[in-house]
Amino acid sequence: MIMTDKRIVIFGSPGSGKGTQAVMIAKELDLKKISLGDILREEVKKGSELGEKVKSYMEKGLLVPDDLVSQVIEENIAQTGFILDGYPRNLDQAKNLEAILKKKNLEIDIFLYLQVNQETIIERLTKRGRGDDDPEVIAKRWEVFINECNQILEFYRNNGKLMEVNGQGSIEDIFKRIKDLLE
Ligand code: AP5
Repeated sequence: MIMTDKRIVIFGSPGSGKGTQAVMIAKELDLKKISLGDILREEVKKGSELGEKVKSYMEKGLLVPDDLVSQVIEENIAQTGFILDGYPRNLDQAKNLEAILKKKNLEIDIFLYLQVNQETIIERLTKRGRGDDDPEVIAKRWEVFINECNQILEFYRNNGKLMEVNGQGSIEDIFKRIKDLLE
C-alpha cells in the first residue's frame, strides 16, 4: 500500500485506540505522526509555559482552550503526509484546521473514525491507568466526546472525507480493517 503523502485525521472517543493505531498507520504508510495529547503531556512534563496553562484542563478531562492548541497544530503540520491524532475534536477545531491547511495549500484526505462503545473504553482505560484514567475523569472525557462528536462527524460526512471503522476487537484486527479501508 503506497500512500505516503496522504493527510489523515484519526478520531474517536478516549480509549478508542487512536494513538495505538496512529503509530501503526504512520509506520505502514511512512507518515509523520502528530499526536496532540502526547505533545501536550510532554509540555506539562517539561513544565513549560504552555504546559502550565494546559495542565489543569487535562487533569479534569476538559478540552484545552482552542487558542492554546491551535498554535501547536499550526507549528506541527507538515507539508508531507501526516496522521493527526487528537485534533480536531469539535467543529470549531475542524474549521480552524481547514484554515491552517488552506494557508499551506493543503487539505485533509481522510477523516478516520474509530467507533468503540463506552464499556470497552472504560475497561481499556482503567487497565492502562494514565494520570487522567481515573473513573471520574474518564466519565468527563467521554461526556466531552459525546457532546462534540455529532457535529464534527457531520462536517466530515458532508465533505465526503469520513471513513468509519469498527474499533472493537484486537489491535491487529482493527489495523487490518483500517488497511483494507485505505486500500
Ligand atoms: P489524548 O491524549 O488525545 O487522550 P484521549 O483522547 O482521551 O485518548 P486516549 O489517549 O485515552 O485514547 P486513544 O484513543 O488514543 O487510545 P490509545 O491508543 O491510547 O488527550 C488528552 C487530553 O489532552 C484531553 O483530555 C484534553 O485535555 C487535551 N487535548 C488533547 N487534544 C485536544 C484538543 N484537540 N483540544 C483540546 N484539548 C485537547 O489506547 C488506550 C488504551 O487502550 C491503551 O492502554 C492501549 O494499549 C489500549 N488499547 C488500544 N487498542 C486496544 C484494543 N484494540 N484492545 C485492547 N486494548 C487496546
